[in-house]
Amino acid sequence: MTTEKLTTLPSSPAQTELELTDSPGCQSTSLHDSDVPEVDLFSPLKIRDITLPDRIAMSPMCQYSAEDGFANDWHFVHLGSRAAGGTGLIIVEATAVTAQGRITPGDLGLWDDMHIEPLARIVRFLRQQGAIAGIQLAHAGRKASCNVPWLGGTPLTPEQGGWPVVGPSPIPFQEGGPVPIALDEAGIEEVIEAFVTTTRRALQAGFQIIEIHSAHGYLLHSFLSPLSNQRTDSYGGSLENRMRLLLEVTKRIRDILPSGMPLFVRLSATDWMEGGWDLKQSVILSRELKELGVDLIDVSTGGLVPHARIPVQTGYQVPFAAKIREEAGIRTGAVGMIKEAEYANQVITRGCADLVLIGREMLRDPYWSIRARCHLDEEPNWPLPYGYAVKQQRRGK
Ligand SMILES: Cc1cc2nc3c(=O)[nH]c(=O)nc-3n(C[C@H](O)[C@H](O)[C@H](O)COP(=O)(O)O)c2cc1C
Repeated sequence: MTTEKLTTLPSSPAQTELELTDSPGCQSTSLHDSDVPEVDLFSPLKIRDITLPDRIAMSPMCQYSAEDGFANDWHFVHLGSRAAGGTGLIIVEATAVTAQGRITPGDLGLWDDMHIEPLARIVRFLRQQGAIAGIQLAHAGRKASCNVPWLGGTPLTPEQGGWPVVGPSPIPFQEGGPVPIALDEAGIEEVIEAFVTTTRRALQAGFQIIEIHSAHGYLLHSFLSPLSNQRTDSYGGSLENRMRLLLEVTKRIRDILPSGMPLFVRLSATDWMEGGWDLKQSVILSRELKELGVDLIDVSTGGLVPHARIPVQTGYQVPFAAKIREEAGIRTGAVGMIKEAEYANQVITRGCADLVLIGREMLRDPYWSIRARCHLDEEPNWPLPYGYAVKQQRRGK
């Protein structure tokens, strides 16, 4: 196996936050599964009562293909294909906790009991294939009410079916965009309650892992960042106050989850902007989340402001996952421009993260996990009806 050096970050506002980029590797911690001395990409990962078959997850990816929040055959095939492709953990796209919390009219939702069964059908299939089924719960906040991306992704006017957006403060995501209505305490309580009731529905649908979406500038992230949160009440100002909403949502969700069920939180570890949310705050937040019973931080970055300069390149977010893992002592997932199996394996073997999430590469190739196994000389985990046939062909029959 090659031992290519992990990506270093180029000069950027966040560069000074990261000292580890030139180190020979990330430090392993006790969170490395002690049952498996030689941890690699294909080692199982036990979190509470759930054992992921390996360290590969499909990253949540909106399909903007739902109507009124309902999952349909597209979602079944899209997610089912990755389960047939041997993916150990499949995290269903950002699923809105209220209709108002959708990015676009095409977002999945789980704000009504009627949404449960179409998702449950998908979950049954994923689990039959041996995958673990996760779901990301989200509220888009001030980035809600937009057109689907292939129609430009721009804010919808009321005539186009747009709806009022909410946020911590009346600061739009971009110039000319809708000015969010600042949530009052009753509105905040409604949001928290929506996350809780949606979690109950996700449990009914059979999901095995819940991920809270607190990244990419959506509602919970927008409360964290001083750039979008300029409140003067107990939800704004100090770091403690800005973290309050996410911590309350997390606590209330953890309270109703079975004790054996893992809870993940996706964070943007930095806004890539001076004066914004950053890695140091992310480490403090991750420690608090761990205290509340969060099992893994899924470490992304950016999305809070449209004009941030992000040094996108292979593994550019991995050092953030490594730092949070090391400093907060919590499992992390690494995501972003992880394409090659060897590289993904190194992220795990070097102890930079406990899980690798694959996004667009899995859109390009639903069999990414099986190919990764073949590439790294592991036994491929073909679905039963394929395995005997392709193995025969391999032997030249
Ligand atoms: C089509 C598409 C939809 C996405 N939707 C979501 C989403 O629902 N929730 C989320 O947290 N990230 C979302 N993302 C971000 C991905 O999960 C992932 O973090 C990002 O694409 C970087 O990983 P990659 O380089 O492997 O694609 C989306 C990305 C794409 C390309």
